Amino acid sequence: MSFTPAPWPRRLRSQEWYEGTTKDNIYYRSWMKNQGLPADLFDGRPVIGICNTWSQLTPCNAHLRDLAERVKHGIYEAGGLPLEFPVFSTGESSLRPTAMMYRNLAAMDVEEALRGNPLDGVVLLAGCDKTTPALLMGAASVDIPAIVVSGGPMLNGWFRGERVGSGTALWQMSEAVKAGTMTNADFLEAEQAMSRSPGSCNTMGTASTMASMAEALGMALSGNAAIPAVDSRRRVMAHLTGRRIVQMVKDDLKPSDILTRTAFENAIRVNGAIGGSTNAVIHLLAIAGRVGVDLTLDDWDRCGRDIPTVVNLMPSGKYLMEEFFYAGGLPVVIRALAEAGKIDGGALTVSGGPIAAEVAEVRNWNEDVIRPFDKALTPQGGIAVLRGNLAPDGAVLKPSAASPHLMVHRGRAVVFEDIDDYKARINDEALEIDETCVMVLKNCGPRGYPGMAEVGNMGLPPKVLRKGITDMVRISDARMSGTAYGTVVLHTSPEAARGGPLAVVRTGDMIELDVPNRRLHLDVSDAELARRLADWRSTVVRPSGGWAQLYHDHVDGADTGADMDFLKGCRGRAVARHSH
Ligand code: FES
Repeated sequence: MSFTPAPWPRRLRSQEWYEGTTKDNIYYRSWMKNQGLPADLFDGRPVIGICNTWSQLTPCNAHLRDLAERVKHGIYEAGGLPLEFPVFSTGESSLRPTAMMYRNLAAMDVEEALRGNPLDGVVLLAGCDKTTPALLMGAASVDIPAIVVSGGPMLNGWFRGERVGSGTALWQMSEAVKAGTMTNADFLEAEQAMSRSPGSCNTMGTASTMASMAEALGMALSGNAAIPAVDSRRRVMAHLTGRRIVQMVKDDLKPSDILTRTAFENAIRVNGAIGGSTNAVIHLLAIAGRVGVDLTLDDWDRCGRDIPTVVNLMPSGKYLMEEFFYAGGLPVVIRALAEAGKIDGGALTVSGGPIAAEVAEVRNWNEDVIRPFDKALTPQGGIAVLRGNLAPDGAVLKPSAASPHLMVHRGRAVVFEDIDDYKARINDEALEIDETCVMVLKNCGPRGYPGMAEVGNMGLPPKVLRKGITDMVRISDARMSGTAYGTVVLHTSPEAARGGPLAVVRTGDMIELDVPNRRLHLDVSDAELARRLADWRSTVVRPSGGWAQLYHDHVDGADTGADMDFLKGCRGRAVARHSH
């Protein structure tokens, strides 16, 4: 895809504020000068926002102010004016009810901050899971030149000689404590080893996946995704990104030039190759919706189906992001896919050139971390999109994180009406459940929770765990942490809180899962299903006031990205003038 740069020099958007001698122009400049900015910085040079999700409440992004300084060096060096600003930071580990409920709020914050201020371009500083899609969604809706710098992953955790993968190890240890194979004292000791350095989760969880998606979409410089947060090369990446955005503004290289259907299809295929998070499904659908690309769930199945998972990282594999970086990182994967004809190497990136050109020289330094295709972890990676009378609008499953023996399974449903019901009964030794059953969790979708919690990989009952069983088929309208694993059917749509068929599953019903044939079936007659649906009444209470109510009333289903109905689309960069 070729790109023709805009002529330069030309009048920039920021000059609507800063150029001239009127009272308004003086007003705009004068207040900025209280920061010690010399007059010639308002001479028509590109004004670049540094959109920072730094927050101590988002520990994965707590080091981003340092990176912002590096971005500023690059911007000044290239002749731009950097202006850093904060936006709502959606921290995965602390935010209740779930960080996902605030992704769209953060995206709205980004969009309005970009449009309302005198900015010509923006560097998006993200890290923790939702911060990357939120920033991309907001920037895409304004469509000024934008580029991502990720915060980078934490260093490997180590505990008693074993790698401790963020999240993944937590779920494993928690199950081991329930099964009686690990003491609580050891669990507490392991806590000290889990988060060794600044950065985001070191597994191929959602943060690493979305950093990889930003790079695969062409919205970050090549190599951005995997550099550890504390590696000096992360600072270099920030510095180079600062330089690059200035040229992008001069060229007027916009998100809409880069975020094409080809870019999304490439990213879906890269997600299959890295064994990326199921959360990427929702986020890419939402980003696509902001630029008017008609991406669907079926694109995920179609594009990802024949892509082998070659990146041997937890939760699908063995290693962590630090080792992925040492092996060559995402550029190695992109080169292999492009050379095999599995992605379109001509897709445009923030570099102004095709993605294949960026990776032409890279080498794979560790073929156990990044496998050749003939030694893939899973021959068919990607995301399986299931349909059937239990999921008319689709559901997803990550084959590389599932158990092969459960990919075709028929079992008796054990139903939990919501997460509180699950918590109240899962440890009950009298619960009639064994490993052949199918655990069903309702009312955890975008509207039901609200925010679509990462509870789809609900833990197994202790009495099953004690038998040494580590996986069962689980079905819900929830999401799953990108660091989690198991034969887990997620995002079942329509969700229970909207009256989808999931809402009327009863304990004792038989459910058939057939991943090879992409089928999810509730074994009751059409007439019985229709009868139950006609009798269904929602038990979900509408939140009273505030963002939660707005979210409940306007959030779309997971099958289309769970964006707000009124935020979809690109509203552009134009802003009404105002006068003082
Ligand atoms: Fe922030 Fe995992 S909790 S990246």
